[in-house]
Amino acid sequence: MLCSHTYLIKCTFIPEQSNKMSDPSRLSEQEIERVSIEFHNNGFVCIENFLTADEVDRLRREANRLIKEEAVNERDKNIFANAINAKNDYFINSGDKVRFFFEAKAFENNELIVPEEQSVAKIGHALHNLNPTFKEVTYSKKMSDVFNAIEFDEPTVMQSMVIFKNPRVGGAYTPHQDASFLCTEPIRLAGIWLALDDATEENGCLQFIPGSHNWPLSRRFVRVEKDNGQIELEWTAPPLECDEDKFVPIPVKRGSLVLIHGLVVHRSSANLSNKARWIYTFHAFDRSRAVYLKDNWLQVG
Ligand code: FE2
Repeated sequence: MLCSHTYLIKCTFIPEQSNKMSDPSRLSEQEIERVSIEFHNNGFVCIENFLTADEVDRLRREANRLIKEEAVNERDKNIFANAINAKNDYFINSGDKVRFFFEAKAFENNELIVPEEQSVAKIGHALHNLNPTFKEVTYSKKMSDVFNAIEFDEPTVMQSMVIFKNPRVGGAYTPHQDASFLCTEPIRLAGIWLALDDATEENGCLQFIPGSHNWPLSRRFVRVEKDNGQIELEWTAPPLECDEDKFVPIPVKRGSLVLIHGLVVHRSSANLSNKARWIYTFHAFDRSRAVYLKDNWLQVG
């Protein structure tokens, strides 16, 4: 375990030296070089077999346990469709908690109409600090190699989620840049996306516009304090409009890691298949060269 602090601002990776060439728990020198080149050229890169089958199983078991033992107690608080609501305190104050957001389509007249294990849309946003199983993967030596590859000297995790994209009810993520949600000055932000299922075009794999990490940030999702002292969330500009034919789908196998530049435009479609698409994702910025902005929607501590 590389990090024992609870609060994100103190929680950083500690690079370690070792013979990476022969160590399966590290990235090889060739892999680090490939990651660096593709990340800078395209704004994203896939690393197959990043997680072992055992690691994937451990994360899946823990996510299942959270749904069965903890989500059930939160069901009446909100559903995901209403969660990104400007006045939803459960969502706004989830930065340092493990909270549950439900599939809007899993309910009809407040009654659950899908199996319980398919009812949760996502868990967020502090699994990386508060849950030992997710913390271990987040701060592994192999993960620190990924951040070394993109020259993040002090990668600092500010947010994590399990996203389930359940069969038939899992919704789409429209085109966006992650820095819209988690902006730093200057922008030194990367997302880690770990497939806990095979991600296909049918169940909603990631789709990217290669090279769009060179585009400017289109808009931000920020906290605004109103006259009555209430914190509300607002967009600073209308949504991105992109040509459909520019998106390239990136299907990946279970256990793969996709590294995402904070500015690259990406999306994923709804899951209309009968197969789930579970992922664990988190974001880090390089605290040695950038500052996390105080008006980002998500704040911790
Ligand atoms: Fe994203």
